[in-house]
Amino acid sequence: MKKVRIGVMGAYRGTSMINYCEQADNAQVVAICDKWVEGLERQKAALNDPNITYYTNFEDFIRHDMDAVVLANYANEHAPFAIRAMKAGKHVFSEVLPVQTMKEAVELIETVEETGLVYAYGENYCYMPAPYEMRRLYREGKIGEFEYGEGEYIHNCETIWPSITYGEADHWRNNMYATFYCTHSLGPLIHITGLRPVSVIGLEGTKAERKRRVGCKNASFGIEMVTLENGGIIKSIHGGLYKNSVWYSVYGSHGRLESGREDAGENVDRLYVNADAFDGEYANRAVESYKPSEKAAKESAAFGHGGSDYYSMYNFVRKILGYADADTIDVYEALDMFLPGLFAYRSVLQGGVSVPIPNLRNKDEREKWRGDTACTDPKVAGDQLLPTMSTGTPQIGKEVYDKMYALWRKDFTSDDGYTNAAMTQGSKKE
Ligand SMILES: NC(=O)c1ccc[n+]([C@@H]2O[C@H](COP(=O)([O-])OP(=O)(O)OC[C@H]3O[C@@H](n4cnc5c(N)ncnc54)[C@H](O)[C@@H]3O)[C@@H](O)[C@H]2O)c1
Repeated sequence: MKKVRIGVMGAYRGTSMINYCEQADNAQVVAICDKWVEGLERQKAALNDPNITYYTNFEDFIRHDMDAVVLANYANEHAPFAIRAMKAGKHVFSEVLPVQTMKEAVELIETVEETGLVYAYGENYCYMPAPYEMRRLYREGKIGEFEYGEGEYIHNCETIWPSITYGEADHWRNNMYATFYCTHSLGPLIHITGLRPVSVIGLEGTKAERKRRVGCKNASFGIEMVTLENGGIIKSIHGGLYKNSVWYSVYGSHGRLESGREDAGENVDRLYVNADAFDGEYANRAVESYKPSEKAAKESAAFGHGGSDYYSMYNFVRKILGYADADTIDVYEALDMFLPGLFAYRSVLQGGVSVPIPNLRNKDEREKWRGDTACTDPKVAGDQLLPTMSTGTPQIGKEVYDKMYALWRKDFTSDDGYTNAAMTQGSKKE
């Protein structure tokens, strides 16, 4: 069988995609790139594969003879590398998030259109068992037309913050705004319904003590209240509340679908289907509850995030190989998942007004955004720099980052530390 030759940028989260290729019969890793030499060396030792070439810079890496590139680099830097990779003739799998600014969104779409290469957005949460089954049932008409839905991705990362920010004050996780990391909560609902978001109202959580003590400059959580093209509404919430939760629900014109709740001892493995001829008072008569069967349950079992890490790569490789049923998330859908977060923050900055979300599928709408670099990353924003919270960018002392750095080093160099586990399994983080 023809093997798709893949290069992976980002030796940390990239471990998950490397692991996918190691067990697949139709993909192989041929190159790995990371400027973090220590991480690269550890990856090299763990893989012990003479067929893989290692690079410390993108310029050399992208010249390697390969078909596709996985971008598991910084979450706010995917678009520039995706564009360069596609211009060099490589298909792209992009980790979350797709872009950082509207300027990048326009450039990314145009590069995909010009090159005709596969761009797959790695929003793995779409492929978790319950939301993926919700998609199948929704598309079958099981609950009628979408009216309302909720997506939650609550992850209190306080204990792992040293291992995921390395004491870097300007790491993207410390510098992002509350509604930036929105696609784990919102993405599955977009993938279920296939509807385009048209406007958004944003909110940011104000109690940010847990964030400040680890050096993070944003709000504790973000909310997007999104109106879709059919008038349906989604509430998406994500961030660092005290207790974790990944949960989805969808209400249609004649039924409801929802995933299991963690406090009931369940999770996204379980689905509740409440769709019968009885409305309102009688709604609970015939609730079905089951664990959806998966296409590749055996293969995906070892992968992180409820096995979803397996399916995002599985579909990417099959898309490149030309399988018509490969279910990837294309650039337009990726932006349907992300732009609500970008514009929710503009809503937050304007006191919570409703803000329209442009439709970049329309070429005419792109012109207005071509020069829009507004974001919280000083390297990219220029004179359009935004504060990390609506109340301003908090000042955090160097001692906080020194402490994070020391904790990270202790963890990284210990034999059984969190980071070591993440390096070999690529699935322990988030
Ligand atoms: N989908 C998920 O469930 C999930 C889970 C965890 C992380 N992620 C995503 O994975 C990506 C990576 O996250 P992470 O946790 O590994 O941490 P990270 O963002 O801190 O690490 C990125 C890695 O890329 C390397 N890198 C960055 N710029 C580079 C450059 N110009 N040249 C060479 N190497 C470069 C860094 O050295 C680092 O090792 C992020 O986009 C994050 O959002 C997704």
